[in-house]
Amino acid sequence: MTPTLAVSGLSAAIGKIPVLRGVDLHVRSGETVALLGRNGVGKTSTLRAILGLLPRKGGKVNFKGDDLTRLPAHRVSGEGIGYVPQGRGIFPGLTVEENLFLGLRSAPPAALIEDIYARFPRLAERKTQAAGTLSGGEQQILAIGRCLMRQPSLILLDEPTEGIMPKLVADIRREIQAIARQGVAILLVEQNLRTALKLASRIYLMEKGVVVHEATPEQLAADASTVHRYLGVAL
Ligand SMILES: Nc1ncnc2c1ncn2[C@@H]1O[C@H](COP(=O)(O)OP(=O)(O)OP(=O)(O)O)[C@@H](O)[C@H]1O
Ligand SMILES: [Mg+2]
Repeated sequence: MTPTLAVSGLSAAIGKIPVLRGVDLHVRSGETVALLGRNGVGKTSTLRAILGLLPRKGGKVNFKGDDLTRLPAHRVSGEGIGYVPQGRGIFPGLTVEENLFLGLRSAPPAALIEDIYARFPRLAERKTQAAGTLSGGEQQILAIGRCLMRQPSLILLDEPTEGIMPKLVADIRREIQAIARQGVAILLVEQNLRTALKLASRIYLMEKGVVVHEATPEQLAADASTVHRYLGVAL
């Protein structure tokens, strides 16, 4: 079966500095794949280069069999790829509901918005409230909800539990699992090894702009030296 997302040899530079030096990875439908690595190794840049938000210097990005490198960035989100950027990217002055509807070309089916409010009651309770008044975790949930409004078949999530209180971390993890169960392919960038071990079916480790290691959560959980080498943490 063709993977939903297949990236090969992806390279990119910011100015003259190479930030990606041939990234290879793939994500299948219903699979949650984690991309882990220390600060500055190029995780966010990988997501941005997949989307064309960071100019690519080489390599291929294939989405459901189509070559994304032929499309301009503004077309890519219309192709069924959701992106929840690091730091969330919500509009604080707009209400929760305005954020959910933002950028949609046509009114979404009522059942879709109902489904999102049913999944995230916190958003339903606060739909007329300015998004900037939500807690960090609630803003993260809003960003995920907004991405689901487009019914994506691939979601790129950049550190969705960063800086979020533990109670909401569990909610966010549960939602990610529920989304994957619907057959959505999820590429999850993480700093948090625990979250990756819990959610991912496969884990890629990145260093200096390339993927250097691939493992299942079980393999990685038993490989303290690899974890220490590439993540700088103890198991
Ligand atoms: N706008 C920019 N201008 C210059 N350098 C940048 C810019 N954005 C990123 N970089 C550099 O590119 C490299 C990769 O950054 P990137 O944000 O992809 O890392 P990351 O793995 O997501 O890190 P973190 O875990 O801290 O989010 C880093 O060395 C970073 O300093
Ligand atoms: Mg980052």
